[in-house]
Amino acid sequence: MSTIDYSEKIPNNVDLANDRTLQRALEHWQPRFLEWWKELGPNDFANSDVYLRTAVGVDAQGWAHYGTVKMPDYRWGIFLADPIADRTIGFGDSFGQPVWQQVPGEFRSQFRRLIVTQGDTEPASVEQQHRLGHTCPSLYDLRNLFQINVEEGRHLWAMVYILHAYFGRDGREEAEELLARHSGDVDKPRILGTFNEPIEDWLSFFCFCYFTDRDGKFQLKSLAESSFDPLARTCRFMLTEEAHHMFVGETGLGRIVRRTLEVMKEIGSDGPEAIRRRGAVDLPLLQRYLNFWFSSSLDLFGSEVSSNAATTFANGIKGRPDETTQYQDHVCADSSFEIEVPDGKGGIIKDTSPMRNAMNEVLRDAYIRDCEIGLKRWNMQIKRAGYSFELKLPSNRFRRAIGAWANIPTDLEGRPVGREEYDRSMPGWLPGASDRDYVKSLMQRVVEPGKMAAWIAPPERGVNNLPVDYEYVRLN
Ligand SMILES: [Fe+2]
Ligand SMILES: [Fe+2]
Repeated sequence: MSTIDYSEKIPNNVDLANDRTLQRALEHWQPRFLEWWKELGPNDFANSDVYLRTAVGVDAQGWAHYGTVKMPDYRWGIFLADPIADRTIGFGDSFGQPVWQQVPGEFRSQFRRLIVTQGDTEPASVEQQHRLGHTCPSLYDLRNLFQINVEEGRHLWAMVYILHAYFGRDGREEAEELLARHSGDVDKPRILGTFNEPIEDWLSFFCFCYFTDRDGKFQLKSLAESSFDPLARTCRFMLTEEAHHMFVGETGLGRIVRRTLEVMKEIGSDGPEAIRRRGAVDLPLLQRYLNFWFSSSLDLFGSEVSSNAATTFANGIKGRPDETTQYQDHVCADSSFEIEVPDGKGGIIKDTSPMRNAMNEVLRDAYIRDCEIGLKRWNMQIKRAGYSFELKLPSNRFRRAIGAWANIPTDLEGRPVGREEYDRSMPGWLPGASDRDYVKSLMQRVVEPGKMAAWIAPPERGVNNLPVDYEYVRLN
């Protein structure tokens, strides 16, 4: 197992001390990162003591240390999962050959683009969540928000390390740009659409963690298959941290459902108005938020048919999640994939694409299956409480802005509809102004240890075996 030296300015397991040039370059970037954190991170909480986990190794058994820290003092470090001996390329044209320890010149720009795009999402989400701390539903949730924020900061470090270490001057320039673009900025927005959507309430935050962070999980999983071994190892370790972000999304939404069901039982009604009078989130409202974040996140996978996706797969740059265990054919030179596209006359037709060109869609399908898991669980809760309401993911054709279905109006089931019907139905499909106002009105901060806002049930257990009413954040 590799060791991490915490006496260094930048904790790492990449032997930074023996590469003075790289170390100096990263130490030069470090104060800029901290400036960015102070300006656009959860800055009003710089003096709060937060119970956080910090990565201290990459060993599956004990990779994290828990303790109380002030966020600006968090030790953002560079950690790569341990190398796999004799690892070979797992997919594409070079299948079976040894993996690369350097970026092959001919694939440099493709790699750089992918790494920058992934890296850009990490600080973007911190910026999106910049003000959420003020309206936390509990100290437990506040701590989870901050945990995610510091880890997204570390994920930025992970990508910046790769850029600095393997892309020379271009990489250093890209690392600067990662701090120069900002979520929602008119002139210099973040690269991907969803990462420019504001997250102003906790319902959106939990949806973001559930849907958008899950996109991150799938992108990281496919980069963890990469033939460029340092990138694969970086992503493998990021996934260890990412699991918690999924957890926050799934349990957050599950707790909202639980609270709503309690209220429905108490008042003997499932009427949205009556539920709202009791300060909970009615299930149709939740459904509209799910529709919004799910459809927005689907676009992050790109077009159904993409020559770019084909090239990155063929060249061994980006694989499929769990390439080794989930698929038989790792070359995909002659297979095909069936996709549904608009027929241009208001209907749907089936089309076949060479498998390699359909890799975005393969990834999106796997993502959708993963998204279903939480919904099944929440629907069980609803059913057990005696209600017939069912939360559903909209069709992958609904409200798309990228790909074959971009700007083609469909209903939630993905049936093409006229523009007029689409506009007319929208208030039932996506959160409207009154929904957002109502959700906003619920966002009153609760900071007494163990207390929860009225719209969310307490978690089943606390963090790291501590009780739920532990003072996870001392606001000072
Ligand atoms: Fe991340
Ligand atoms: Fe994340």
